[in-house]
Amino acid sequence: MAIRDKIRILILDDEKQFTEELSGFFLGSDYESYEANTAEEGRKILNDNKIDLLILDVRLPNANGLDILEEVKIQYPAIEVIIISAHGDMDTVIKAIRLGAFDYLRKPFRYIDIQIAIERTQKYLQLHRKLKQMEERNSLISKTLEEKIDRQFIGISSQLLEVFEQAVTAANYPDANVLITGESGTGKENIARIIHYSSRRKDHFFCAVNSSAITESLLESEFFGHKKGSFTGAFTDRMGFFEVSNGGTLFLDEIADMPISLQAKILRATEEKVITRVGDTNHIYTDFRIISATNHDIDRSVEKKKFRLDLLHRLNTLHIHIPALRERPEDIKPLLLHFVDFYSAKFNKPRINVSQGVFNELQKYDFPGNVRELRNMVERAMILCRTNVLGMNDFPVNKHEVSAKEDNTESVNLKIIEIRAIRQALQSAKFNQQIAADALGIHRDALSRKMKKYKITLKKNEE
Ligand SMILES: Nc1ncnc2c1ncn2[C@@H]1O[C@H](COP(=O)(O)OP(=O)(O)OP(=O)(O)O)[C@@H](O)[C@H]1O
Ligand SMILES: [Mg+2]
Repeated sequence: MAIRDKIRILILDDEKQFTEELSGFFLGSDYESYEANTAEEGRKILNDNKIDLLILDVRLPNANGLDILEEVKIQYPAIEVIIISAHGDMDTVIKAIRLGAFDYLRKPFRYIDIQIAIERTQKYLQLHRKLKQMEERNSLISKTLEEKIDRQFIGISSQLLEVFEQAVTAANYPDANVLITGESGTGKENIARIIHYSSRRKDHFFCAVNSSAITESLLESEFFGHKKGSFTGAFTDRMGFFEVSNGGTLFLDEIADMPISLQAKILRATEEKVITRVGDTNHIYTDFRIISATNHDIDRSVEKKKFRLDLLHRLNTLHIHIPALRERPEDIKPLLLHFVDFYSAKFNKPRINVSQGVFNELQKYDFPGNVRELRNMVERAMILCRTNVLGMNDFPVNKHEVSAKEDNTESVNLKIIEIRAIRQALQSAKFNQQIAADALGIHRDALSRKMKKYKITLKKNEE
């Protein structure tokens, strides 16, 4: 298996004894070497393997080494070339350097010389790889910078403090996968970033992927990368999300939408930490952590066979649930003030106050769009306000919506019914979770997740 960062070297020289000897020198080292004694053999190896460095003798009997150098530089611009020249052949050396050779060695040479030349090339290659990785990263940055640096998590409710504590735990266990659940706009991505940037993975990439936004046919190559020419449109070798997240975090947003065909592959990659690019045979090791998020009832997706249970097990080593904003109205005030400050600075406005009535009224509002909705409301109010005090007029939620929280108790009722059903089933089953789950018609794991979510414990004296 080719380990990440292992440099692959092709030695192309007509003297079999020389290539064998040099190859032997690389044996057991950090380099993987290939030998070729004719231009033909060389071309074949270059085509079949991802060579990083070519050690090329410019004096080949049936071919001109400089032509080969030129050919390689055009066809494989990423390959670095060290040429081997005979003593007194300075002209060739100069030509070779002009054609893009990285270094040269004069025959006969000592192993120490070649060692130094390779180390120099290796350093260069590593820098080059880093640069390439950064370019790949940049092409993946889809969100605005503002959102990227938005890493504050505001709130005073006990529920939010618990979420925060769980995030700290998740940051301290940088290899454990985390599943974040919660309605849209509750701050799942925010928490995911906080976990990443507070963990030892922080200097590596946070790769946010929403698989529902990618065409299904491209998904595999987006995740695993591809080899040049593996399908129409694959013009160059390309890293996928798993490789880009090496050392860092792969954030899988809206996992419930992930096509079932891809789930098995994602599971395997997550378990083995080894991937293969589409159209390639090399195995690539990559060390990533997955934080996934969903606003769907993922247990339902499992029950409906739309989501693999084994994958869910892999992803939810740690589970963080962010409650809806309406379930923690104490957070409305600090959040609102935070957004007022944020937009004051952004829009260059003088100090803006908020009348107490706003907080009171908004506490009654349902916030179906959660914190995102509150944020948008504040942004609109700050743009439109004419005075330096924001009143309820600046927050045009209609009265019907404000009272909705009191009238529309459907979702609350549903939750209560669910809790009641679980408790009853547990009691009838004498607290045997398997029997209770069977009676409820759900999987045992789904039951224990729901118990965790609703904080239902197994103490018999509880009710
Ligand atoms: N506790 C918080 N403190 C500060 N900002 C927050 C908080 N919670 C959410 N936000 C802000 O609300 C907006 C929505 O958050 P985010 O995108 O993380 O939600 P989400 O749960 O991923 O939503 P969706 O399910 O729709 O993708 C962001 O601008 C985020 O910064
Ligand atoms: Mg999100």
